[in-house]
Amino acid sequence: MRVSEAIASRRSMRMFKSNPVPRADLEWMISTASRAASNGNLQPWRLNVTSGKARERLSAAIQKAIDGNDHGPGAEYDVYPRKFTEPYDSRRKTVGKQLYGILGIGKGDAAGMARQMRKNYDFFDAPVGMILSVDRGMGNGQWVDCGIFLDQLMLLAREKGLHTCPQAAFSRFQHVVRRELGIPDNEVVICGLAVGYADPDAVPNNLITERAPIGDFTHWHEG
Ligand SMILES: Cc1cc2nc3c(=O)[nH]c(=O)nc-3n(C[C@H](O)[C@H](O)[C@H](O)COP(=O)(O)O)c2cc1C
Repeated sequence: MRVSEAIASRRSMRMFKSNPVPRADLEWMISTASRAASNGNLQPWRLNVTSGKARERLSAAIQKAIDGNDHGPGAEYDVYPRKFTEPYDSRRKTVGKQLYGILGIGKGDAAGMARQMRKNYDFFDAPVGMILSVDRGMGNGQWVDCGIFLDQLMLLAREKGLHTCPQAAFSRFQHVVRRELGIPDNEVVICGLAVGYADPDAVPNNLITERAPIGDFTHWHEG
């Protein structure tokens, strides 16, 4: 598979089959992704990989926390900008509308939205759920490195016929994630990553999101 094919075929999948993922494929993905560039070669990423009963325990613990209204301290970083300006506000609203639209969740259907939100915590039924974290002492630069590592994981997954969904939703329940996986206090939970086999034609999986033309964000300086 060419890199461009991996990029073109990657999209966030929100419905997975239960087929298990071979441990060897996961190890290959993780070790190959760890070739990611990082400033000073700090390699600041930390990863917890859950599957089987451990994946189910993590999901169950978060679902229980939601049922018990145990929202803890919430995410430890700004998952979104504190103030939404244009064009970002419109982009977020558009993708939300598109996703809920194909799922048949109408505007104002708070219960439907909450149900969809909760599916995050089951990793959309993916057999593998990863949690990416970073040492608290790391700066913005190292968060860039973690993003590169995360993207490499997602692209390498394609080469093994796997799909993914990055999930900042897990940062919101980092207190539960931390407890279940024994993640130390000196790490910040960045996000989850669902990994598994997805049917690209399943309703929530056929959302092809928009992108701005490159002229909107690229300035050329030539000559
Ligand atoms: C860091 C990060 C966190 C995300 N968190 C979530 C999430 O919690 N739940 C979800 O359904 N999608 C999540 N997404 C997926 C985005 O909605 C998706 O990447 C975006 O709409 C573009 O669509 P695409 O990935 O299909 O190209 C996240 C993406 C990124 C990069």
